[in-house]
Amino acid sequence: MEVGFIGLGNMGAAMAGNLLKARHEVTVYNRTPAKVQPLAALGARIAGSVSETCRGDAVLTMLANDEAVESVVLGREGVLASLPSGALHISCSTISVPLSRRLSQEHAKHGQRYVAAPVFGRPEAATAAQLVIVAAGERSSVDAAKPLLEALGRKLFVIGDAPEAANLVKLSGNFLIASVIESLGEAFALISKGGIDRQRYLEILTSLFNVPAYNTYGALIARGHFEPAAFAAPLGQKDIRLLLAAAEDLGVAMPVASLVRDRLLTLMSHGGEHLDWAAIGGLAGRDAGVTMPYDLRSQP
Ligand SMILES: NC(=O)c1ccc[n+]([C@@H]2O[C@H](COP(=O)([O-])OP(=O)(O)OC[C@H]3O[C@@H](n4cnc5c(N)ncnc54)[C@H](OP(=O)(O)O)[C@@H]3O)[C@@H](O)[C@H]2O)c1
Repeated sequence: MEVGFIGLGNMGAAMAGNLLKARHEVTVYNRTPAKVQPLAALGARIAGSVSETCRGDAVLTMLANDEAVESVVLGREGVLASLPSGALHISCSTISVPLSRRLSQEHAKHGQRYVAAPVFGRPEAATAAQLVIVAAGERSSVDAAKPLLEALGRKLFVIGDAPEAANLVKLSGNFLIASVIESLGEAFALISKGGIDRQRYLEILTSLFNVPAYNTYGALIARGHFEPAAFAAPLGQKDIRLLLAAAEDLGVAMPVASLVRDRLLTLMSHGGEHLDWAAIGGLAGRDAGVTMPYDLRSQP
């Protein structure tokens, strides 16, 4: 397919690379132009603007947050104004439920198609085309998106025709991952203060809970490996904020999510913006006065 790709950050660069490897014709655009160069070396066409990126069958967006998606899609000479009638926008960013609903309505008004396809998996999974993708939208639109999404991940779940459903599932998943990080942090604080070896504990833990969230975040917390951020703490904070907004809209109390929200706030107020969100797993140890194998910057 002839596709555009907008947003070449930690995730987007790897995803666009996999579309090229799957022999799609890919035109890329990024706000910071220097990030297009590695993709050009892989054979991508370089666009000088959002609208130049929107001339094919489909455009994928992988942008930081709602503000970025609003400006790129709804802004002047943005995706909405540029995409041909009948062409497809696949939104892979983790965005709010209301924005996804609005994009769906706006694209429909413009005769364009829209699929929400947020992804699970960190940049290393994106590079290895091992993402788990949750997609929703009109059936024919999701079918049209499939050859692209299948080039990006190991598993594609289609969960219905209302695109925002995929965004709700994505937010719920990140809530669970954040809860695991917090719980791991508390467990590691406990065993560290009890004098138990962190790496040995990790072996026990990951044989009990042999799933990606425990394996990935257990290893990061055991080693205190929070930089460079593969998933930056401000993005995680955004996800929990959006999750809590969705929970409030639906009238669902989520006390654990509120706790995680506070953990992220604490991390930020101690200078953690540059760290991976796994660093909330270091806070319990810090609070317990444990000597950790790492240093959360600006500790009080
Ligand atoms: N990292 C992960 O592990 C992971 C996993 C699953 C889902 N996600 C989600 O995927 C999305 C991207 O994450 P990421 O880790 O790739 O983030 P990232 O490395 O920070 O990249 C963000 C991208 O958005 C662009 N951007 C930000 N604000 C913009 C604006 N106002 N106008 C135009 N472009 C703008 C950035 O452009 P510049 O290069 O110019 O800054 C960059 O291309 C987020 O929604 C995140 O929550 C991330």
